[in-house]
Amino acid sequence: MSEAYPVIAIDGPSGSGKGTVARRVAHSLGFHWLDSGALYRLVGLAGAQAGLAPGAPQHAQVAATMAIRFGVGAKGQEQVFLADREVSEQIRTEEVGNLASQVASDPQVRAALTERQRAFVQSPGLVADGRDMGTVLFPGAQLKIFLTASAEARALRRYNQLKDKGLDVNLVGLSQEIAERDERDATRAVAPLVAAADAISIDSTTLTAEEVITRVLTLARTHLTDR
Ligand code: C5P
Repeated sequence: MSEAYPVIAIDGPSGSGKGTVARRVAHSLGFHWLDSGALYRLVGLAGAQAGLAPGAPQHAQVAATMAIRFGVGAKGQEQVFLADREVSEQIRTEEVGNLASQVASDPQVRAALTERQRAFVQSPGLVADGRDMGTVLFPGAQLKIFLTASAEARALRRYNQLKDKGLDVNLVGLSQEIAERDERDATRAVAPLVAAADAISIDSTTLTAEEVITRVLTLARTHLTDR
């Protein structure tokens, strides 16, 4: 089953660079961008703000009803709003990332977010990044990329990203948290992190973001016109 508009699905573990690549490929093609991880982070944050215990079943209700909005800032950066309050920075902490990974293993939360994510498929097309874009959300995507990188490279990238944002981080602690999150994401019963059978894998360990973007855009040129 093909999507109504072209979809490029980019899946991979944390720190593989999929967010940067997806955002810039979307910009280059003039497509919409779905940062699906932000939705799980928003559920984690909204749940914590409501006083829920990490992973409590009430998160499904939060996922279905939370008032969220995405925007683009003056410097082209992603803006994320929860109940009209900007939380772009707040959702990027490792603490919220861990809450996100816990709520993400709840099938009811995933079900509540399905339609919200599918609503991003709009003209002229969508680039969606996450863990299950090519396997569950958009199985008919015209192009599926599975972006990986060594655990060391991924931990170092996250470290630099968080440091650039002025957050206080420790590389060893961060590596451990990333390893735990990867393990939970890859072994959960619903929508685990796996490459779709028809995904093209790119190992970005020794590639710059520019090089990955160029490869994806080259693939997009053939895959989107062949349909
Ligand atoms: O990609 P990001 O680090 O923002 O995602 C945060 C968490 O949300 C992941 O660790 C994963 O557990 C969950 N997630 C998911 N499915 C997606 C996107 C993110 O389960 N499509």
